[in-house]
Amino acid sequence: MTNEMDETVLFKLSYGLYAVGVADGTRPCGCIVNTVFQVTATPPMVAVSIHHDNYTAHLVAKNRRFTVSVLSEETDPLVISYLGFQSGRERDKFASVPYRLTQSGLPLVDSACCAYLECKVVSIAETDTHTIFIAKVVDTLHGVDAAPMTYDYYHKVVKGKAPKNAPTYRGNSTEMAKSAGDEYVCEICGYVYKGDISKEPDGYVCPACGAAKTLFKQK
Ligand SMILES: Cc1cc2nc3c(=O)[nH]c(=O)nc-3n(C[C@H](O)[C@H](O)[C@H](O)COP(=O)(O)O)c2cc1C
Repeated sequence: MTNEMDETVLFKLSYGLYAVGVADGTRPCGCIVNTVFQVTATPPMVAVSIHHDNYTAHLVAKNRRFTVSVLSEETDPLVISYLGFQSGRERDKFASVPYRLTQSGLPLVDSACCAYLECKVVSIAETDTHTIFIAKVVDTLHGVDAAPMTYDYYHKVVKGKAPKNAPTYRGNSTEMAKSAGDEYVCEICGYVYKGDISKEPDGYVCPACGAAKTLFKQK
């Protein structure tokens, strides 16, 4: 080990991709996280790390209940764009994401998720930027028979990015795919526009995250 620490070593840690679901009164809210992991088996407990600025952290702290939808390789990547790059503070994100509600009124993402958990917060740990919620799993449900989406798969196959609020943010190191034809990629969320974007009006915004037309780059 040397004194000069290479933080890219942390990229070798592996994760899955999840949608945390919470209720804002009767309105479904939530966000994408990659930081759910099982803490104990008996009783089954998980932990999740959520940035202080994320509305989801505020709602989980308030209600102390949340769901986890385990995304699979078959899940529509737009679910990640909608839930992972915009805030429930400003937008009704679930208006664009298929979902159903648990008996307790929490949203489960209905897009080829392979498993679901409902969790009750039992402990909270703070860091300067993120809150770590430790929660007991109080209900579970199987989803589709597809492989869970890993963070690695999301980067390498979906060619997705993560915003600064993700604890594992990698700066601009993610490489975007190169392909022939007229395709433009939203620099913010990775949404792909097929066709000639210059034909769109100046006020055109990314349908997934609301970024301006100028933030689209040709693939
Ligand atoms: C691939 C990916 C992984 C993410 N992981 C986390 C995470 O583990 N914790 C977190 O706080 N935010 C994470 N985010 C960012 C939140 O989903 C994002 O900031 C979201 O807009 C917050 O919405 P909210 O304000 O409605 O809670 C991730 C986003 C993506 C796309």
